[in-house]
Amino acid sequence: MQLLDGKKTAEDIKSEIAIQVQKMKADGQKVPHLAAVLVGSNGASLTYVGSKVRSCQQIGFESTLVSLAEDISEVELLAKIKDLNEDDELDGFIVQLPLPKHIDEQKILMAIDPDKDVDGFHPTNFGKMALEMETFLPATPYGIMELLERYKVETAGKHTVVIGRSHIVGRPMSILMSRKGYPGDSTVTLTHSRTKNIEEYTKNADIIITALGVPNYLKADMVKEGVVVIDVGITRVEDSSHPKGYVITGDVDFENVSKKASFITPVPGGVGPMTIAMLLKNTLLAREMKRN
Ligand code: GUN
Repeated sequence: MQLLDGKKTAEDIKSEIAIQVQKMKADGQKVPHLAAVLVGSNGASLTYVGSKVRSCQQIGFESTLVSLAEDISEVELLAKIKDLNEDDELDGFIVQLPLPKHIDEQKILMAIDPDKDVDGFHPTNFGKMALEMETFLPATPYGIMELLERYKVETAGKHTVVIGRSHIVGRPMSILMSRKGYPGDSTVTLTHSRTKNIEEYTKNADIIITALGVPNYLKADMVKEGVVVIDVGITRVEDSSHPKGYVITGDVDFENVSKKASFITPVPGGVGPMTIAMLLKNTLLAREMKRN
């Protein structure tokens, strides 16, 4: 079994980007500038946005955190997005999800200028992804593709089973794994909450990507020997013995599934850190696209 070490790979990617930023600076060019919009103070969102901003500082990007009140109206948020779209100093920005219930998420994502949409959530970018055109790929699926590539995991002709059909992980993942070229060229089954007898799919899968948010869902008797397992789950499970009062738990029963797997991602330290690295890569691409 080989561990797909997302923590180390993300550090490698960040170092590669940092070198490019140094070159930009040496050439007197403007460095990439990312803004993150955070509405309210959801604990997990605060952590993720904090990590994104810190990573920018670590590699020499400019970053701006836009913190807005939980009770901001949809109209006010749309006005803020318009400002960010028109701000020439910014190369890209993200709106951290989930948004409060009184705000229509899709409406907000549609308002983002596709050229600044480094999360790749705008329908224009999602469509380009499906059509195999160059665009910003959603960071989590992009990070998984990068892990598969850097560890040279074979994907052509393999049966990939994706569990979960969310707009930000499962659905784009199923598209990317079926696209032409490496890593891709897989035969993909997209399973979800209405799938019957899911084990019949998982037991026949060469590659399983779980994005469900149900701790320890995927058990050893649901997979075959040699399977490749990518665990996107990051659920906070209460644990009073831990200083933070919780532990981050994946969708996979790692202890037992790892005994049958050829490759597997740990949680934490697998997909999570890759998501941030790929957001930074998209921001670098946004800067380069602006120059060209
Ligand atoms: N919430 C969970 N994952 C993501 C992500 O990749 N981007 C944003 N903006 N919000 C998220």
